[in-house]
Amino acid sequence: MAQSSGKDKIWKREDLSKRYLEGVRGAIPLADYQIRIMLMLIEKMRDDPRKILDLGCGDGILGSAVLAKYPKASVVFLDISDTMIKAAMKKFSGRGKNAVFLTEDYGKPSWTAPAGKYGKYDVIISGLSIHHQTDGRKKGLYKEIFGLLKPGGIFLNLEHVSSATPRLGHIWNEYFIDSIYKYHRASGSKKTRKEIASTYYNNPLLEANILAPVDIQCAWLRKIGFKEVDCYLKVFELAIFGGIKPV
Ligand SMILES: C[S@@+](CC[C@H](N)C(=O)[O-])C[C@H]1O[C@@H](n2cnc3c(N)ncnc32)[C@H](O)[C@@H]1O
Repeated sequence: MAQSSGKDKIWKREDLSKRYLEGVRGAIPLADYQIRIMLMLIEKMRDDPRKILDLGCGDGILGSAVLAKYPKASVVFLDISDTMIKAAMKKFSGRGKNAVFLTEDYGKPSWTAPAGKYGKYDVIISGLSIHHQTDGRKKGLYKEIFGLLKPGGIFLNLEHVSSATPRLGHIWNEYFIDSIYKYHRASGSKKTRKEIASTYYNNPLLEANILAPVDIQCAWLRKIGFKEVDCYLKVFELAIFGGIKPV
């Protein structure tokens, strides 16, 4: 059985989780559009979903978007980081009756026991999270996700995938840095682009990435049994891909 890389444990660092939530999430290129596409795919493929799982939820941005559209649904938010789970709970304070929060590590197959306690899911989503797993573990995790879906359920992975060449990877990095810089300027920060770039390139999270091409990941999903597998949207290294568990 493929082991977890252990690189994901870096997310337990409070400073890195906070830096992501406060300084990076809002700067992700096409972030709103990605959420709109995910919601549209859910509507077309599995309308009126009742059970949602947000894997590697961070502060719950994706699961909460689904919940806002489908208020009768319940969402299980799962993350390895206490800081992230606390941030997600804070977001839901006072209206948490259809939200469950699990501090769990999906790097080990045992995560399916606590997540499976809530039954099978109509929708499993994940945002920018699985790319710290080895390729072997990614495949194992995709199989476990398949197992936790109801027939007809949908898996959508908004993921950080690899660039086809180092030059394209560099173009992506610089594009993302521009976007973070603009975001910081708009929120009143005086940081220079050079400082933003230095933080970006020296972020230990970058070294913890194990990026895989989106077409290869789609092939893994097909092999597992997912249908209608595709990359539904892609901007450089950010891709939304996934598939449906057959009825
Ligand atoms: C880049 S953040 C994305 C958060 C959120 N999904 C979003 O779209 O903004 C990656 C998240 O994945 C979580 N994560 C990474 N590895 C994990 C693991 N093995 N088990 C559970 N959560 C994990 C991190 O703690 C972090 O909250």
